[in-house]
Amino acid sequence: DVIRGDYKEVHVKPAVKEELQRITALTLKHPKEFSYGVLERNKITGAILYGPPGTGKTILAKALSKHSGYNMMVLTSGDIYDPKWGEDEKFIRSTFRIAQRLHPCIVFIDEADAIFGKRTAMDRKHERGMLNQFLSEWDGIATGPRAPFILLATNRPNDIDEAVLRRAPVQILIDIPNRADRKSILEIYLKGEDLDPDIETEKLARMTQFYTGSDLKSLCVNAALACLSATIVPDADNNNPTETGNPQHGGSGGPPGDNPNGTPDSSTLDAGLPKRVLKKEHFLTAMKSIKPTGRGPTALAARRFKQKPM
Ligand SMILES: Nc1ncnc2c1ncn2[C@@H]1O[C@H](COP(=O)(O)OP(=O)(O)OP(=O)(O)O)[C@@H](O)[C@H]1O
Ligand SMILES: [Mg+2]
Repeated sequence: DVIRGDYKEVHVKPAVKEELQRITALTLKHPKEFSYGVLERNKITGAILYGPPGTGKTILAKALSKHSGYNMMVLTSGDIYDPKWGEDEKFIRSTFRIAQRLHPCIVFIDEADAIFGKRTAMDRKHERGMLNQFLSEWDGIATGPRAPFILLATNRPNDIDEAVLRRAPVQILIDIPNRADRKSILEIYLKGEDLDPDIETEKLARMTQFYTGSDLKSLCVNAALACLSATIVPDADNNNPTETGNPQHGGSGGPPGDNPNGTPDSSTLDAGLPKRVLKKEHFLTAMKSIKPTGRGPTALAARRFKQKPM
């Protein structure tokens, strides 16, 4: 599994980044300190990143692993639930064995609510068995010198089983971005784009209250596409204007000769188009279809889970 994610691509509050780095380093870099005394019985072996959908939890976890040089095993519910009875328990056992071998290693459970939902709410017996297996493995390796760090991410923290929450005492809210954060996120996604002086990122940040990082990314993509659509007027020579609408191809064009259909490659199709300038109207068009997730019910419930300012 290729780990994507880089601190350059994700903007979160420095305090959040530092807390994550500190807590994982304690466990993964100084295991001896947790092998005696009070810390032996109170080792921090896990943490939860929680917050509204699309705030960067997944990409942040991956950036952490890349930045810190830890190995990372990413698990989602699709990996764990094996249709064959009992197979998922075996899978969990081997996950922990491999994680120990890969020390220092973070086991990242993404969308943890799907795997660690409240035990009472899970009626399917084998899912309960899987959770119990996970908890006992987690306890079993906790004090060992090669214990992995268990990092969970969820946008439904209220659905997570209490026993899991107890084992991950560090609970970090990745909240929706404030105005300054939105400006920084917009700068990430608008890098390389020319903006009309009328709509600099500061102004855009002010217009986008309750937009998450994910919403802002979509907004930028859609604004650029709106600009492109306005530039490219379908004409007689080019009856398939959407072909040039692919932002991946930009002005540079794809490698020549990779088009099996024999149609002209994008470098030919793009010829003569001036560099686009994104205007306010393009963002307003984009805002019609991209609505702020930060106001939705899932976001509100996630933010209420625990008031822990960062
Ligand atoms: N703070 C951010 N900075 C930069 N990009 C962001 C940020 N938040 C989200 N994004 C972008 O939005 C997309 C979704 O982010 P990500 O998958 O990390 O969100 P998430 O918090 O894990 O959401 P979910 O709770 O739905 O799993 C990614 O492509 C990411 O690049
Ligand atoms: Mg995610």
